[in-house]
Amino acid sequence: MKSYIKGMGTYVPDRIVTNDDLAKRFDTSDEWIRQRTGIEERRYAEEGIGTSDLAKEAAVRAAADAGIEIEQIDFIILGTLSPDHHFPGTACYLQPKLELAGVPCLDIRQQCTGWVYGMTLADSLIKTGPYQNILLVGSEVHSHALHFDDAGRDVTVIFGDGAGAAIVSPAPEGSERGVLAHALHADGRHADRLCYRLFDISRIPLADAEYLESVENAWPYMEGRHVFKEAVVRMPEVVREVLASTGHTIDDIDLLVPHQANLRINEYVVSSLGIAPEKVINNIQRFGNTTAASIPIALDEARRNGQVSQGDLVCLVAFGAGFTWGAVTLRL
Ligand code: UT7
Repeated sequence: MKSYIKGMGTYVPDRIVTNDDLAKRFDTSDEWIRQRTGIEERRYAEEGIGTSDLAKEAAVRAAADAGIEIEQIDFIILGTLSPDHHFPGTACYLQPKLELAGVPCLDIRQQCTGWVYGMTLADSLIKTGPYQNILLVGSEVHSHALHFDDAGRDVTVIFGDGAGAAIVSPAPEGSERGVLAHALHADGRHADRLCYRLFDISRIPLADAEYLESVENAWPYMEGRHVFKEAVVRMPEVVREVLASTGHTIDDIDLLVPHQANLRINEYVVSSLGIAPEKVINNIQRFGNTTAASIPIALDEARRNGQVSQGDLVCLVAFGAGFTWGAVTLRL
């Protein structure tokens, strides 16, 4: 039995924030951001709107696209690095918004690789369990926890808010559609190079004022150059690995959907793999880095604008905090 994507949905907040808007708040420029990242604008959620709210909108659209009723969803997997609360998981806040009491809920905290890990998990649950319609959603509201100050500018300029979702179901019998292979990796020796230490509550008492006053602890921390250098090696490596596991080659790929962290990273990946740029989707220019949501948002866009069709070979690839990285191949 194979699992396949039955339908997809995207939701991004209406509010567009341009590079010039950011330049009014701290020392940066449209030229610097475009040159180093390719980003032109991103979306920000209004105050009071959280990750589960965006996830709900994407989920409703994915269910409609799949032609199912919301009540037919029988498992929820949610990837995020910007949870509604420290605990419980954000899937538990999404579930009542969808009126799905009783349906199992699972958060995965694999950051930018969240949706790739989630797709692998959904595929395994379909193959081994009774599930018919798994909601897999990546959702992020970064904008409420970014440091709008010169000290946080390297991190703040790259992130945006958004959600992307899919309904993952058993593929129709005899169909060529469905997940073909996955390859997942992690190397926690790099965990402290891209992290948010604010909720170190198992190690540091929350009342420790000195700890909280440190910029490195109070805001997301990223060693950008180090992350960049690892990403451009790991992403092509894992694409080759996942293709080799089913005897496919780079030329067989109809669409590569890379995580949208930095357009320059994706340009390196494309040139390292030797894949034609028209077989790659990039939309970071308009959304920034939406972490766990970036792959479903990009894949959904490619489906809707005709860049990919049913039956095409699609390769998803991501790299992010942890470090974690992975790839999935599927026939759409
Ligand atoms: O999805 C999560 C995974 N994250 C990533 O994949 C991020 C990967 N890394 C990157 O995308 C890049 O490292 C960044 C875009 C974050 C930063 O670009 P960079 O080319 O690595 O810049 P840098 O951090 O080495 O800084 C170069 C200069 C510094 O100034 P000096 O010391 O040369 O005078 C920074 O202070 O650029 C300065 N700078 C900025 N200037 C204007 C850093 N951020 C900004 C900014 N605007 N926003």
